[in-house]
Amino acid sequence: MEETENPFASIHNRNPWKTYLETLITADSLISEGGRKRQDLCGKWNFTQDPYNVCLRQNWPKFSTSLSIYETFKPYFSMLGLNPDEITPELAEQVDLREMARDFVPLDFDFDQWPEMEIPSCWNMKGETFELYEGSMVFTRSFECHPEGNERVHLRVGAANYRCAVFLDGKHLGTHLGGGGEFYVEVTDYLSGKENRLILVVDNTRRDDQVPMDYCDWFNYGGVHREVELIFTPTTFIRNFSLNLVPDSSYRKIKCGVMLDKQVSGIANLNIPELGEPISIEVLEGYGSLVFDREPELWSPDNPKLYDVELSFGEDRLSDRVGFREIKTDGDTILLNGNPLYLRGISCHEESVKNGRSLLESEIIENLNLIRELEGNFMRLAHYPHSSRTARLADEMGILLWEEIPVYWAIDFENKKTLDDARNQLSELIYRDWRRASVIIWSVGNENDDTQPRFDFMKNLADLAREIDPTRLVSAACLVNWEEKSIRDSLAEILDIVGINEYFDWYQPGIEMLNELFEKAKILNKPFIISEVGAGALAGEHGDPAKFFTEEKQEKVYQDQIAILRDITNIKGMTPWILYDFRTPLRTNRYQRYYNRKGLLSPDKKQKKLAFDVLRKFYREKKD
Ligand code: GCU
Repeated sequence: MEETENPFASIHNRNPWKTYLETLITADSLISEGGRKRQDLCGKWNFTQDPYNVCLRQNWPKFSTSLSIYETFKPYFSMLGLNPDEITPELAEQVDLREMARDFVPLDFDFDQWPEMEIPSCWNMKGETFELYEGSMVFTRSFECHPEGNERVHLRVGAANYRCAVFLDGKHLGTHLGGGGEFYVEVTDYLSGKENRLILVVDNTRRDDQVPMDYCDWFNYGGVHREVELIFTPTTFIRNFSLNLVPDSSYRKIKCGVMLDKQVSGIANLNIPELGEPISIEVLEGYGSLVFDREPELWSPDNPKLYDVELSFGEDRLSDRVGFREIKTDGDTILLNGNPLYLRGISCHEESVKNGRSLLESEIIENLNLIRELEGNFMRLAHYPHSSRTARLADEMGILLWEEIPVYWAIDFENKKTLDDARNQLSELIYRDWRRASVIIWSVGNENDDTQPRFDFMKNLADLAREIDPTRLVSAACLVNWEEKSIRDSLAEILDIVGINEYFDWYQPGIEMLNELFEKAKILNKPFIISEVGAGALAGEHGDPAKFFTEEKQEKVYQDQIAILRDITNIKGMTPWILYDFRTPLRTNRYQRYYNRKGLLSPDKKQKKLAFDVLRKFYREKKD
């Protein structure tokens, strides 16, 4: 670390993040937290905007303990007429020098005197000063934590966008990258037994080597936008476990994989009370897996059956609610539990007018209920990992999900660090949601240019998804090849389901090409999903169907698209773009005013547009 002797040496520090990017918090740190003891750290935190990264340059976290104040500012004591040698480190521990420091050293910060902000939240929603702010924000709070016996304590952050450096009592514990993944870092050995100073430096700066890069069609919220808490585990604990039907279409074999945090051996006990006697799973040096016979009631949108599950190892005990189902393809057909499936879906960003990216559970439920109102069974969670609550709620409500990482548009496909970042975000998403029956598709990207570097990058991701989780389908939203008027995306070869984004009659004329496009694509013998189709309309704007941004124009595009798509046999679903209007700096005309208006509803979801009923009518017919 470019340790500064004192804050003022920071004037020579040219790269404030460099040191803190050398210790990354990755998917390996994920912990299954169902049923564990927890301590909530949500609520009011102190914060300051830090556009020049002064916190990192001056190493503010270092000065969050009395001892560090003593070590750094010992020479100042003589200015107070004190003999520095009489103030020993032990005394510095007893006397809280932090309070004194406010008056006898020129520190440029004071943590708990800063203003307060609620966490979780997006700072963009906290008034004009922060609405368009992109940069670093320093969040801090103190807390006490008293683990019992040999309990271990882990900090869990539901999500922070984009970089998040974690400091506890001056120690840098690691930095997380990505805007949608939950992450953990162990704090056991750094707890002081009294007040602990926790600091999160969150930087939402867009960068062209990040995932997504610095140009995307959505608003760049910043903050710790999901919950922060402490999770308690025994000394040896179950880090994660998988539990799913063996996808052999027998529907009578279940596989459980167990991963401990240590390479120890023993017996894990899996108990699914509704499915008979507990199962013992042998664990060798930290890993164990077992396939056993059970015939569960299968989960489906019509019957979202979930089982209470408990997994224990030694002192550790985890709980979850799991549905058992099989998803696969056969030629150009998608099969759910062996039955042909048509995905009646809609795309959705994770955003609300009131809370930005930091959705309340009630807002997630509202979105899922709108799927039901559309007579749908499927949602594309675009374009990044949504809250873990979304998949849990979809499990309960019987809604299938497409989950995605933001490998979006012009990613730096030849950059190894960018690939590592994308791989980590995909791993975090899968390890977080792999027990969610509702999740049937992992998407490795959206609308990327069909080049060799992009193919290599995304094949790497598709291989990773299948390596971690061979029970789900891999897809991506691909583009039509306009020059050849064909669907000739090299990536299609390696996808289970090919997503196609097409905007005939909005961005391109020539809707009559659709039949030919998909006729030619039959050679792939794979199912297609129209992962995006649609048109913009300002809610309440009415006029001639030829006039862009009227509801009638959007309605007509949906009518004309559906009239053709409905009869194309290798299209097995659609997720039109999009459930409701969302914020984006790309859209500035008189109808848009920094919103993408392709929603079927207004941003606040209070106004349905005419096209909503067109889609609902089609899905009702498809359902019957
Ligand atoms: C693209 C992209 C979306 C975007 C949409 C649009 O296909 O995937 O993120 O919002 O089209 O142009 O509205």
